[in-house]
Amino acid sequence: TILVLDFGSQTAQLIARRVRDQHVFCQLVRHDLSAKRIKELAPKGLILSGGPASVYADGSPQVDPEIFELGIPILGICYGMQAACKAMGCEIKPSTSREFGHTEILRKDGGDLFAGLPEKFTAWMSHGDRVENLHENFVVLAETVDCPNAAIKHRERELYGIQFHPEVTHTQHGENLIGNFIREICGCEGSWKISSFIEQECEVIRERVGNSRVICGLSGGVDSSVTAALLYKAIGSQLTCIFVDNGLLRNGEREQVEYEFGEHFKTDLHVVDARDRFLNGLAGVSDPQEKRKIIGKTFIDVFKDESKDIDDARFLAQGTLYPDVIESGANPDGPAATIKYHHNVGGLPKELGFELIEPMRMLFKDEVRLMGKELGLPDKLIWRHPFPGPGLAVRCLGAVNAERLATLREADAIFIDELYESNYYHKVQQAFAVLLPLQTVGVMGDARTYEDVIAIRSVDTDNFMTADWSRLPYDLLQRVSTRIINSVRGVNRVVYDVSSKPPSTIEWE
Ligand code: XMP
Repeated sequence: TILVLDFGSQTAQLIARRVRDQHVFCQLVRHDLSAKRIKELAPKGLILSGGPASVYADGSPQVDPEIFELGIPILGICYGMQAACKAMGCEIKPSTSREFGHTEILRKDGGDLFAGLPEKFTAWMSHGDRVENLHENFVVLAETVDCPNAAIKHRERELYGIQFHPEVTHTQHGENLIGNFIREICGCEGSWKISSFIEQECEVIRERVGNSRVICGLSGGVDSSVTAALLYKAIGSQLTCIFVDNGLLRNGEREQVEYEFGEHFKTDLHVVDARDRFLNGLAGVSDPQEKRKIIGKTFIDVFKDESKDIDDARFLAQGTLYPDVIESGANPDGPAATIKYHHNVGGLPKELGFELIEPMRMLFKDEVRLMGKELGLPDKLIWRHPFPGPGLAVRCLGAVNAERLATLREADAIFIDELYESNYYHKVQQAFAVLLPLQTVGVMGDARTYEDVIAIRSVDTDNFMTADWSRLPYDLLQRVSTRIINSVRGVNRVVYDVSSKPPSTIEWE
């Protein structure tokens, strides 16, 4: 294991990702985790992340100085380097010229950290402070035009510092540098694989569950599907899956769940037809937050009703992922939340009385996909775009009813189909149709029409916090528009959403 001490950098998670890419397990922990606790966790190496603060500012995050006495190799990145240097008696000062963006790194010395890297390469920098008056215990490994100490090493200890960010893709050879640290310097073997994780996790689940039953709520999305597939592998017939058909699903979604978890994996699948219950609750409601509330509450009620008759059910499996765990601050060793991401609504409350099983709480999204593939789920499901908990209700602007939902579902299916056909589905991160709450004039044949408008939305994004509208080809948009207007009854106009987030959001409600 490698531990990343998180000083609040936006790229701390990325460091962990990069380490895992090299098949070494890695966890994010709080920056001030005590040396004693680190010793107990017995990692093979420590990486100190970057961070937004200045090390000389009051109350800035510091490391436990004892960690430098543990004999564990340490790599400090940006703020992490400055924090390490400060602890080792160097001076940190504001730079005369701040370095942001691409910078040329000039190597001065070899050393294991730079093994195999060229003499010059471009790296991504983002710092206002730098290490001055380097202590004589350090040697300089690399410099830039503005920064004489761009990479350093302690003479006697396995302590390295780099001022640039090897974890971002803008830095050339960043993965080699991280690889050198974790393999050559820390001695990690790189044997962490998703298949061994699956075996381990299955053991843990079997042990914990014993003869009891586990309930897993399926949503049709990737996370809950992979969770269910993993539990099925671990405990087979002791798993009950519950899928609530709320009438707000995408085309074919229910059938796909029925096939995957009823036929392919023969789980004890309960499909609850709650369409009327949801639609009755939503009748006449057009405020988006109100819709969300009603849907969340109805979901819990339906789930409660369905689960109370399941004998021996003691556990509830959930597809919580590592980023949620990090941001919730739930792990006492983990970093405190720095940025809040969008949290899923429709989470099930404690009062249901189940013990939680969260087998993916250590995994990132792409690792979950790998796991899904390994467990035999189809690519179509594994790579499906995210879908909001309140479903089509927040894409059916204004009043929600069965007829309008059917119109929207049909238009959405055409758009998605065309994206697949043109190989654009996997190039964009989320795409969907929205039914607007207004009519416009059109002409069909000789007759005037006054019908609905469908908006189509497609976004390119890394993390759904910011997004840009996808530059889809005009002829693709043309085909989507023609097909929707020709075949979806009651629609006479299609528009394409060209707004980025911010200031717009991805969804329209
Ligand atoms: P926005 O619209 O806020 O969406 O830019 C960002 C991402 O979150 C999804 N989203 C939701 N997911 N419940 C969810 O589970 C919700 O109420 C909800 N609202 C938005 C959205 O689809 C996008 O991926």
